[in-house]
Amino acid sequence: MPLLQNRVALVTGAGSGIGQGVALRFAQEGARLALFDIRQASLDETADKLKETGADFECFSGDVSLTEDVARFFDGAVKRFGRIDICVNNAGIGNPPLPLVQMTDEGFDRTIAVNLRGVFLCMRAAGRQMIAQGGGGRIISVSSQAGKSGFAMLAPYCATKAGVILMTRAMAKEVGPMGITVNCVCPGTIDTPLLRGTLDPLLAATGQTLEEWALKNGPPIPLGRIGYPVDVAKLITFLASDEADYMTGQAINISGGQEMH
Ligand SMILES: NC(=O)c1ccc[n+]([C@@H]2O[C@H](COP(=O)([O-])OP(=O)(O)OC[C@H]3O[C@@H](n4cnc5c(N)ncnc54)[C@H](O)[C@@H]3O)[C@@H](O)[C@H]2O)c1
Repeated sequence: MPLLQNRVALVTGAGSGIGQGVALRFAQEGARLALFDIRQASLDETADKLKETGADFECFSGDVSLTEDVARFFDGAVKRFGRIDICVNNAGIGNPPLPLVQMTDEGFDRTIAVNLRGVFLCMRAAGRQMIAQGGGGRIISVSSQAGKSGFAMLAPYCATKAGVILMTRAMAKEVGPMGITVNCVCPGTIDTPLLRGTLDPLLAATGQTLEEWALKNGPPIPLGRIGYPVDVAKLITFLASDEADYMTGQAINISGGQEMH
């Protein structure tokens, strides 16, 4: 029996990278999907891949940092599927890579708006809907190893990801009695357009592949390779399934051992 048969799952940032990986994995496991992204073209790409699987899904475009867009997404999903069982808060951006002393107000504010306010808005909407349904449900957010270890040039990003971990723990305590679990995942170095957007100029200048660069310059990866969206998707699928029904308030690393605390 597929792990998520007929569960209704919402995924933000589903047009690319980890979010697209989650959508495809959830589809394999029988979930019905409501997908959200700020870029319609990216959503179309995910939709094309999903059509091949025969999955039941609907796409919504909008900005996770805007209350009205998030409300439209959740209302639309509930209207289409009748309920919400799983909410994956994945949409996120990197900050312009700069030392904190050079960071602009705009760079800081946008990172907070998307990565922290956006996750808050979706956690709130998911929690309200799950409580209204009578309880039960899974809320899973995508934090980062950057939310556990501070990384140079990424101060606002690190702050948002640490914020996601603490919102996860706080909400887990609030909604545990209603049977809703709230967890987050902390990926390490995952090969996605987001990471490549940051590193491509450097890779072009050094002639290294992403993997060569990461293994040489990043924190050591005991498992000896960088990660791929499917690695994170497998963990999120586990957290969304009944297999994880006694876990809440956790921030789980998925980094090949790059991050261990
Ligand atoms: N790639 C990594 O190494 C890595 C490591 C740790 C954590 N993460 C986190 O994983 C998540 C997914 O990142 P990814 O690497 O797959 O990046 P990605 O850029 O490939 O995908 C992110 C998706 O989010 C969408 N998005 C961006 N801003 C949005 C907004 N305001 N509203 C709605 N959608 C929006 C983008 O259009 C994109 O489709 C992010 O939260 C990121 O911080 C990534």
